[in-house]
Amino acid sequence: MDKATTNGNGQLVTDKQTRHKSVFVETYGCQMNEYDSEIVREILRRNDFTLAESVDSAGVILLNTCAIREGAHDKIRSRIGELRHIKKQNKGTILGVLGCMAQNLKKELLEDNTGVDLIAGPDSYKALPVMIDRVHNTGEREFKLTLSEYETYADVFPTNRHGTNAWIAVMRGCDNYCTFCVVPMTRGRERSRDPYNVIEEVKQLTGHGFKQVTLLGQNVNSYKFKGFDFAKLITAVSRIDGIERIRFTSPHPKDFPESLLEVVATNPKACKHIHLPLQAGSNRVLDAMNRTYTREYFVELAERMRALIPGLVLTTDVIVGFPTETEDEFQETLAVMHEVKFDSAFMFKYSERKETMASRTMPDDISDEIKTDRIVRLVDQQRQISYQRNQLHLGDTFNVMVEGYGKKPKQLLGRNDGNKIVVFPDTGAKPGDFVNVKIEEVTPNTLIGVAV
Ligand code: SAH
Ligand code: SF4
Ligand code: F3S
Repeated sequence: MDKATTNGNGQLVTDKQTRHKSVFVETYGCQMNEYDSEIVREILRRNDFTLAESVDSAGVILLNTCAIREGAHDKIRSRIGELRHIKKQNKGTILGVLGCMAQNLKKELLEDNTGVDLIAGPDSYKALPVMIDRVHNTGEREFKLTLSEYETYADVFPTNRHGTNAWIAVMRGCDNYCTFCVVPMTRGRERSRDPYNVIEEVKQLTGHGFKQVTLLGQNVNSYKFKGFDFAKLITAVSRIDGIERIRFTSPHPKDFPESLLEVVATNPKACKHIHLPLQAGSNRVLDAMNRTYTREYFVELAERMRALIPGLVLTTDVIVGFPTETEDEFQETLAVMHEVKFDSAFMFKYSERKETMASRTMPDDISDEIKTDRIVRLVDQQRQISYQRNQLHLGDTFNVMVEGYGKKPKQLLGRNDGNKIVVFPDTGAKPGDFVNVKIEEVTPNTLIGVAV
């Protein structure tokens, strides 16, 4: 027999009824998805759902998915396979797919045997409570994938945040249409949130003890709300009591007006770290990617940033094996990376994405073998550069915000202003505390020091 309990309104309900009100959200992909999962949890909580501890105890399992490369799709396909078994054991469990893959692969996900009951794209989360109830009541599948030009979830502040950093989406969507990228198709048009609303959310976060926020957007520095631009937004957020560090990601190299560089350079709360995605070093490839800048523009921008912002940490994203990329053009990527000397880089093999301009007009003609060969060489070079960059920090003292424990016993882990990971012997400091750490040893990825 079903166990009876009472719900939030004091009504008597059975296990069967409560189960479908118990949700587990699992997140894949970028920080925007992490943030969106919190939005989803908040929307569901406001509609009498509770959060389950694990997939086994949940009546509803929602996967917030990513579509950026085929590897992301594969991971989620295999996870859906695993969850089908759980559905067999726990009859009536509802499986939903949210996010970018939902938007990108609706047809595949709606095939008969996937086990997926519900599909909702990134702009449809407010409909989730009704959709879940409908699946529960009718057993029919539900999907909602309309992209909006306006939805910013401005009226949903996530309340259940963890950790020392709070992500906060200030703009959504992307209008850049880089030819390799699926994001404009999965996330829709660019739209920015009202700055007053962002400030309200940050104030709520500082009220909960957060000292660091990361302003998020697919193209965050093109933030604009009625003439209020991204530089102004950083300044406004920095004036909020309790905020100590402001980070942002991901910007596009085309949107760095002098005013923004100046804010990063002069505002003590703006972290001295800029993620500046290069993507490729050859002008022909950059043009084919529709990146709208040249190698020369990029290198000059990076140099200007370093000159204006002492101690700046520069990181990047690069793709190898874009259609038609020659060995010489790849060498240009190596050369630019060598010239700019990024502190670290995310490096990817090109992955053809459905509906992108590249997939429609250019065959994916670089073999996986060549892509692998190129990425190995690039990673190798970057490892050495990262190591060299970190060696420059030997003897430096950084103000580190503790995030938790390191891999070794009695070791704390945190980040400096430049976002580099710093580990040091435990001082008893707690997550969120600031500790001055003198660097004594480095690896390509980590600074190792002692509290001073
Ligand atoms: N909006 C951000 C991030 C986009 S996704 C930006 O513009 O910087 C993060 C990175 O994934 C991109 O910078 C790019 O390097 C990589 N990426 C995107 N599409 C890809 C594809 N089809 N194949 C391989 N890498 C890709
Ligand atoms: Fe994709 Fe380009 Fe937009 Fe970044 S700027 S999300 S790479 S289309
Ligand atoms: Fe992936 Fe969508 Fe983010 S494709 S990287 S989850 S915007």
